[in-house]
Amino acid sequence: MQKIIIAPKKGKQGIGAGVWNLGAGRDPFGGPTREEIPVLDRIPLLADAGITYIEAHDVEISARDAPRAKELMKRHGLKMGMYTPSFFADPIFKDGAMTSNDSQVRKHALHNALNAVDVTVALGAEIMVFWNGREGFDFVLAKNGQDSFRRMVEGFNAVGHYALGKYGRKSPRFAIEPKPNEPRANMYLSNVGEVLYLISRLDKAVQPLFGVNPETAHSRMAGLDYLWDVELCLEAGKLFHIHLNSQDTTRYDQDLPFGYVEPLKDLALCVALQDAKWEGILAFDVKAPRTDRQEDIADILHTSAANLQRLWAKAARVDRKKVAGFRATQRYTALAGYLAKCLY
Ligand code: GLC
Ligand code: MN
Repeated sequence: MQKIIIAPKKGKQGIGAGVWNLGAGRDPFGGPTREEIPVLDRIPLLADAGITYIEAHDVEISARDAPRAKELMKRHGLKMGMYTPSFFADPIFKDGAMTSNDSQVRKHALHNALNAVDVTVALGAEIMVFWNGREGFDFVLAKNGQDSFRRMVEGFNAVGHYALGKYGRKSPRFAIEPKPNEPRANMYLSNVGEVLYLISRLDKAVQPLFGVNPETAHSRMAGLDYLWDVELCLEAGKLFHIHLNSQDTTRYDQDLPFGYVEPLKDLALCVALQDAKWEGILAFDVKAPRTDRQEDIADILHTSAANLQRLWAKAARVDRKKVAGFRATQRYTALAGYLAKCLY
């Protein structure tokens, strides 16, 4: 299949997706419903689905696998969009990584993070993501919150100084991805505001390296408006990456196809990204549902991409002067009607 290109768009026009998007269909209540596709074999599948930028965790593409992954990406016309250390899969991180109460685990996490910086560079990705996976608590007083915050500041500072010392201006940039809950009952860095506050507490020298990776489903799980979360990142100059999907209100994390649940809000998001001249990758973090068959595993990418292309084109046709007029007269109901007309 041809590459899916979001045009006209400033900067990177290809779309991104994670190798983990094409999983075997496990959920907390049941095992796989499909054959597990070896991670490196997912590279051609992502290429076939029209993806340009792939994303992976260190437990999916390790330092040892990096040269082979690079070869495959080259052969299939793919680039590494983002790389991320998994601070959640290994049982050692059962109580968090940087915020674990066990100093040996914190050391291990930092070691993995520094290693991931090197692999990010080796794979040619410009962005490394930190998702707050198991940083948090299920029981009150299980952790001292102030200590946990200090440990995150120390951890991110150490990562930033390492990257700056080793790669200088060529250092990857770090995008912290907030989520309110799941797998922990309460997660640190649960929303964009918390992440921005954490960044404000980092050493001045490394602050410019740190930004945010807001994800649609994570904002909506928290009952927050995703567009405002994105606007807040933009205002702070901290929108470093983006994870697009959709979500039925405040339930468990669903990673549904982009554009499915709240297309009108997703249209508005496209308008805001266009007006902000967003140059980064438009990346999906979607999960092939366990009901989809092996041969249909990429349907979620096709559906997300088609929705994004349609919404992006419709957003370009939204009359900005009309929007300004509705704002000036505070005719917000009429504005909602106009957006609906643009959509349907
Ligand atoms: C996990 C999370 C996802 C995050 C990714 C990168 O797969 O579910 O939201 O983007 O890790 O760390
Ligand atoms: Mn994500």
